[in-house]
Parts: sequence; structure tokens; C-alpha cells
Amino acid sequence: MNKIVIAIDGYSGCGKSSTAKEVAKKLGFTYIDSGAMYRATALHFLNENLSPLRAEDVEKGLKGLQISFQLNPTTSQQETYLNGVNVENEIRTMRISERVSEVATVKVIRTALVAQQQQLGQKKGVVMDGRDIGSVVFPQAELKLFMTADVETRAQRRQFELLAKGEQASLEEIKLNLESRDEVDSNRTESPLLKVSDAIEIDTSSLTFSEQVEQIIDLVKKVTLN
Ligand code: CDP
Repeated sequence: MNKIVIAIDGYSGCGKSSTAKEVAKKLGFTYIDSGAMYRATALHFLNENLSPLRAEDVEKGLKGLQISFQLNPTTSQQETYLNGVNVENEIRTMRISERVSEVATVKVIRTALVAQQQQLGQKKGVVMDGRDIGSVVFPQAELKLFMTADVETRAQRRQFELLAKGEQASLEEIKLNLESRDEVDSNRTESPLLKVSDAIEIDTSSLTFSEQVEQIIDLVKKVTLN
């Protein structure tokens, strides 16, 4: 299989990450979760009591920010580290989901994270998911996907994921968070979430997990055969 870049963008909680992870595994590609980087940044700002909306705080916050990914040998899953500390579980909590989209509106924060994402993907053979991957991070990606699903389905899936990690949140609370992040992410000035013209849309509302993975693998085969 040729090493290509697969960019997956879409709304909050529509299954981008889990799908991207499985596609990467099947292809022997590297998976990069750009959302985890924004989440780790939001956690860092919270931990340090810094406001993403104050220029001097942002400068200070970015100076002391180091994000990396490491493979957990037991689960074979990639985990997120913030300044050397494993924050994989903490960044997925509602506390961070409620803060992350504000952090992601800030231009200098995006510039710093995009530079790291581009560096991580420079050798190709990557699947990266986020909001601006096909538009800003890898505009030359060989395959661009835009994933959607109706908000009820997304909220149910997210509630299930949170419960599996021991966090209880009501469907209503989760739905409001997904809708509010979609709104902020789609309307911000810096790299808003949008479907670029060369992206293929996949609505996962009525697809099973393996169906959505297979659809993407078929698209990859088409792209790499051309
Ligand atoms: O997994 P989920 O769909 O809930 O979100 P995520 O991919 O972890 O992203 C969390 C938040 O980070 C998004 O709601 C965006 O505000 C921001 N984000 C972004 O602005 N650009 C990206 N490339 C990835 C995430």
C-alpha cells in the first residue's frame, strides 16, 4: 500500500477518532489525533490557571507546553502526554470538552499545533482526524473525508464512551456540548470546520463501525490504485 495522507474532518463525536484509528491499524499507517492536542492544551491552560483569551497567558502557556504521543504496550493504543505526564483519560472528560473549543479559536495556539501536526505527518502513511486537516494541515492530502452523523446518535455514542471510562453524563448535557462545540468550531475566524470541495462525505448515522471502516478502506484502495 502506497504511503498516503488521509485527512478526516467532521463534527464532534461522529466517530472520527475510532474510525481513523482502525483504518490506520488496517493499513499499517500512523494515527494522529489532532483533537487530543487541543484537549491537552486546554488541560494545560486549566492546570496553569491561564486564560486562552489573554495574549500574555497564551505566550506563557505555549512556552510551557509539550505534547507527545506514546504507544501503550499493553493495549497497543496511542496515548497522549502533556509535559511528560499521561493525560489520555483526563483530556476526554466533560470538563475538558467544555473548554477545548474556546482554546481552539486562538490563532497562535492553532499555528503552534498545526506546525507539530505537519511535522508528525511529513513522512506520510498517516491518518489524521480533526476539523481543519483537509483545509489547513494537509491541503494536499491524497484522500479527504468529511464525517457526519445526526446529533442524537453522536450523543449516545459519546455517553457510552464516557461510561466505559467511568464518567456519568446525561444525554442532554452531552448533546448540548456537541452542539455548542460544532457551533464554535464552524463559526470561528481561524480555520473553521468546513467540508472542503474535494472531501468525500460519509454519514455514519446508519452505518456500523465495521461498515464505515470498510468504506474508507475501499476509498483508499481506489486512490492508491490511480
Ligand atoms: O472527539 P471529539 O469529536 O469530541 O473532539 P476532538 O476531535 O477531540 O476535538 C476536540 C475539540 O478540539 C474540537 O471540538 C475543536 O474545538 C478542537 N479541534 C480543532 O479545532 N481542530 C482540530 N484539528 C481538532 C480539534
